[in-house]
Amino acid sequence: MKDLDITIPVKVASADDLSASDRRLVELAREATYRSYSPYSHFAVGAAIELDNGQTVTGSNQENVAYPSGTCAERTAAYYAGATYPDARFKTIAIAARDTDGNFVKAPIAPCGACRQALLEYETLAGHNVRVILTGATEHYILPSVKSLLPFAFTEFD
Ligand code: THU
Repeated sequence: MKDLDITIPVKVASADDLSASDRRLVELAREATYRSYSPYSHFAVGAAIELDNGQTVTGSNQENVAYPSGTCAERTAAYYAGATYPDARFKTIAIAARDTDGNFVKAPIAPCGACRQALLEYETLAGHNVRVILTGATEHYILPSVKSLLPFAFTEFD
């Protein structure tokens, strides 16, 4: 028996470390939190996706009184991108969140399992890595791919 150690490469960046386009994407994700519909959790999440056609789309969490019917910000943005620009491929996604006091979270939040699986599909479609920026109030985590968030992903049948 041998061990298999899986490590995830994460860059911890301040706003100054970000490129201008990443800073813009972070800002768009933050702005998207103000369009969240989250009367049940009071936790507002925003996502912004940069596409290879030059467009950027955003999404926010949309909740429902029947709780499981609600959708996370990441999937709202991903499906909006897919439905609006079916031929465009994802380049980078930035995710931001505000806590129940309305402040941007100190430590970045990461997408739930369902969103990781959904985003992985678009990374597979793209045929290249889709960068992920998890934004905190002052620190951002930059991951090189969606796959790095979901190392043992279910992709397809053999
Ligand atoms: N949520 C997201 O939109 N994205 C995440 O990455 C984590 C959780 C939403 C779902 C729900 O509307 C609220 O945040 C609280 O879980």
